[in-house]
Amino acid sequence: MDIKQFLADYVSFPSVSCNRTKVTGMEATRKFLLEFLSQLGFQAREVDTGLHNIVLAKNKHKKGQRSVLMYGHYDVQPEGDGWSSDPFTLTEKNGRLYGRGASDNKGGNGTMLAALYDIFTENEKFPLNITVILEGEEEIGSPSMATFLKEYRNELQADFAIVADTWSIDDENIVITTGLRGIVVLELKLKSAEHDIHSGYGGSIINPIRELTKLCTSFHDERGKVNIPGFYDDVEVPSDFELAQTRKLPFNDNKFLKSIGAKKLSTDKAAYSAIESLRFYPTLEFNGICGGYIGKGVKTIIPSEAFAKITCRLVPNQDCEKIENCIREAVLTRVDKNLEASLSFEKCSNAYNLPLNMILSDQTSPIYRGLRIAEQEIESVFGNKPLYLRDGGSIPLIRTVKDVLGMESILIGFSSAEDRIHAADESISVRMLERGREFFRRFLTKLSQ
Ligand code: BES
Ligand code: MN
Repeated sequence: MDIKQFLADYVSFPSVSCNRTKVTGMEATRKFLLEFLSQLGFQAREVDTGLHNIVLAKNKHKKGQRSVLMYGHYDVQPEGDGWSSDPFTLTEKNGRLYGRGASDNKGGNGTMLAALYDIFTENEKFPLNITVILEGEEEIGSPSMATFLKEYRNELQADFAIVADTWSIDDENIVITTGLRGIVVLELKLKSAEHDIHSGYGGSIINPIRELTKLCTSFHDERGKVNIPGFYDDVEVPSDFELAQTRKLPFNDNKFLKSIGAKKLSTDKAAYSAIESLRFYPTLEFNGICGGYIGKGVKTIIPSEAFAKITCRLVPNQDCEKIENCIREAVLTRVDKNLEASLSFEKCSNAYNLPLNMILSDQTSPIYRGLRIAEQEIESVFGNKPLYLRDGGSIPLIRTVKDVLGMESILIGFSSAEDRIHAADESISVRMLERGREFFRRFLTKLSQ
């Protein structure tokens, strides 16, 4: 099986989950996945979520065999503008494959699926109980997953879950992600009048854009720390092992900025280094801000409303509901009382952390053996031992898997900073895809023994 062709087919379906007009792309992707898995002898079906159905597949399970739950998501972020080639036509250039989802996550879970192909076309009776979940709602916060996991709890039992939806340093240095940040998603709206008002009245009346930007500015201090009472109260400091792992990273601020295409670190007086702030500390970021007239030409108004979209990333031990309350409190005490402020919280999920003792010493935990095999096979395929690091992104589902199924996850990253996930010209390197596939083939084979 040619993995490039496989990915080209997979990427050709525009499975943008946040866009209801693209449901046909979602359906086509599911059909493609169901056919692929059935052809390998898996019993594959769709589970109705009322939105974008889950693809659930299993090989023939036998009592007494080891088991694994493989998770990935087939939905992608909206393609947006600024692509050098068509986002849904996989395009090869300089050893990289460009297309929406090429890395996040069709490439990532594609390495798993390709490995299943390699294994099951050779041996239909491969002795490992495998359950595959491919979700279609990850990029919108996995709203149906908690219910699904609860309902299918018994069917989904496994020694641990394995996921390839995170970052590594580069094509040679693979990371086993030990933590994902939680997330709080909110919208803030300020309303100052019933309707827009001619700006000839300007100077005499309150302007919601000015008030919103003042409020937004108040959310950080000059060192870049979040200036909201209680925000850092429960933050757990990183352990010595984690700090030592970070020191092994070939990290350099300028190289980092260049690799992600940014011009400058958050502030010159930063309280934490770039690497600490993205791996160990919580954030509050503005994702979008708008208000008033932004069309062509002149429209002299004082707008009646202004909006901001905000997300916070949370670290272990922080409670997302508590953080929501801190934000609500801060907004209500700071905003001018003559404005109507509305806050809507869209998503709240806590961080996930793989317990250190399970990684290092607790041989009784089911995941311990999995991690040792993963280490060995990463070293033999990529030439270097993996690093254990927490990551800055979020996959809310991983925490839900732990809370509902009591199961930990091995998170192996086959994406890297260069991949520009969520942005225009997303890509993955061919080498990463091929080695990812080889890794999973070996990993599953060893796991089954
Ligand atoms: N694959 C990413 C998450 C990720 C990326 C984790 C890099 C670690 C390193 C995933 O598809 C994603 O983008 N998740 C969203 C979740 C949100 C919509 C709730 C995120 O992190 O923004
Ligand atoms: Mn994503």
